[in-house]
This record gives sequence, C-alpha cells and structure tokens, in this order.
Amino acid sequence: MYLVDYTISQLHSLIGDWARTNAYADFLLSGVCSGKTVVDCGAGSGVCTYLALRGGARRVIACDISSEICDYLESVFEHDYRVSVCQLDLCNEQIPEGDLYIHELIGNALYGEGINEIFANMRSQGIGNIYPRYARVTNGYVTSGKPKPSDNMDYMLRSEVIDFIQYNEHYEWSNCLIHDWPDLDWNFALPENNPWLWLLDLRQPVPDRVKDQLHPGDVIWEVGFDNQFKNSYTNVNPECNNWNTRTPYIEFIKCCNFN
Ligand SMILES: C[S@@+](CC[C@H](N)C(=O)[O-])C[C@H]1O[C@@H](n2cnc3c(N)ncnc32)[C@H](O)[C@@H]1O
Repeated sequence: MYLVDYTISQLHSLIGDWARTNAYADFLLSGVCSGKTVVDCGAGSGVCTYLALRGGARRVIACDISSEICDYLESVFEHDYRVSVCQLDLCNEQIPEGDLYIHELIGNALYGEGINEIFANMRSQGIGNIYPRYARVTNGYVTSGKPKPSDNMDYMLRSEVIDFIQYNEHYEWSNCLIHDWPDLDWNFALPENNPWLWLLDLRQPVPDRVKDQLHPGDVIWEVGFDNQFKNSYTNVNPECNNWNTRTPYIEFIKCCNFN
C-alpha cells in the first residue's frame, strides 16, 4: 500500500483549504456528534477531533498510522480527557469501536492513501457509520495558479494566524494536483456533457471497471457527506489556499504546541 507520509506542517496546511475544512466543520458541528464516541480515522492535524469535540462528542478516538503524528496528537490533546490517541494501520488492524467514524483520507489521487483497503477493513468489521461516504469521480487533471491569499486582512493580521504561518515555513498548497506552480493557470478538464463519470458509495468495493479507468494522479473527485453532495469538497477548488475557514480555527491553533 502506498502511504502518504505527512509532516505536521503539511497537515496544518490542509486546514487552510477552506472548502475542505468547512465541509468537515459543517458536518461535525451539525449535532451529529452530540453525546457520541467519534473515531477520527487518520486524525492528522487533529482538526476533525477538535471539531467533533466542539460538536458535542462525548469521546474521540484519534487514530493515525504515524507514531510521530500520534505523539503530536497526544501533546495537542493532553489536557482533554475526552480524547484518546491510537496508533494503528486502518488498512489491516482492528479499528476501535465508536458510534460515528470520520475520515479525511481521500488524498489528491483518490487512491493514494489506501482508501479501498481502509474501507474494506471497515466492511469486514461491520463499520458502516462512516463519513464522508460518497464520491463522484472522473478522469481529468487539475493544475493551479498562484496561491490565492485571503483578502480578509483582519483575519490575517490576528497574531495567532501570523504565528501559524511562521511556524508553517514549508507551507504547501493542499488538495491540488500541482507539480510546477506558480506559473500555470487553473485548468480544470472535464469530459463534455457528462462531467462526473461515476458516483461511488465508498463503503462498497470500487468496481473494477472504475478502477481500471482511473489513473492515480489524473483524477478529479468530489467527496460528499450526503449523496446529493450538498455538503462536499473537491480537489478542484481554485481558492483553496485561503485562510477564511469558517471553523473555530484560531482556537484550535491555540491548542497546538508550536514550540
Ligand atoms: C489527509 S491526512 C489528514 C487528515 C486529517 N483529518 C487532517 O485534517 O489533518 C490523512 C492522515 O491519515 C493518516 N493515514 C494514512 N493512511 C493511514 C492508515 N492506513 N492507517 C491510519 N492512518 C493513516 C496519515 O498519517 C495522515 O495523518
């Protein structure tokens, strides 16, 4: 299995993808977590764990495969008795029991982080209450222009944000298939007439006819919390490098130990 090896600063850069982070915030703050045990699958930066707590979770089990990330998560949540950190490989190991499972594992190429294996492991353990669970995909490619800074200067000037950006010296623009920015323009190629080729329920095995035609690195996807994609996020977001996340993000950053 190919595992994307994230640094903590890369994980934090994902938070700046407002479309992604807001989709999780909308879901996790909507009441679905209230009184529940939430399992954060691939907890990474911990922002979903944080949002689940904000959404009223009784307990959150933050799982990640990386020992470095687990150490980091331990330190971020060390004073919160509701959080336990669990190092495990979601593809192969027993996944802790919970009421609600959240993941953000799709990655840039849909298959990059063993999503099929992780969902297969969940199926084998009878886990179905996992979100997001729908994806629509097509072949295509995405390139990007220059990172677009936030125009919300009040927000940008807040000291916590400045600290965050300074810490995040290897800032990378997340959720885009970019290789040689900054000179390219946005280029979002979809087949005419039928923009989305397949609608997938990620809990079901991905059909071979879909797998055979999707080439990692050339996939455009949108991931939905519902099958109407009313709450969703996509890898074709021209303004993803934007710090206007609607989450209580500043407070989360304050939890993180940057020293
Ligand atoms: C896209 S990133 C992080 C997403 C996280 N929700 C966030 O917002 O920061 C995916 C995370 O999943 C973890 N991961 C990838 N494959 C895994 C696996 N097989 N088992 C457990 N964790 C995994 C990675 O280490 C990484 O931290």
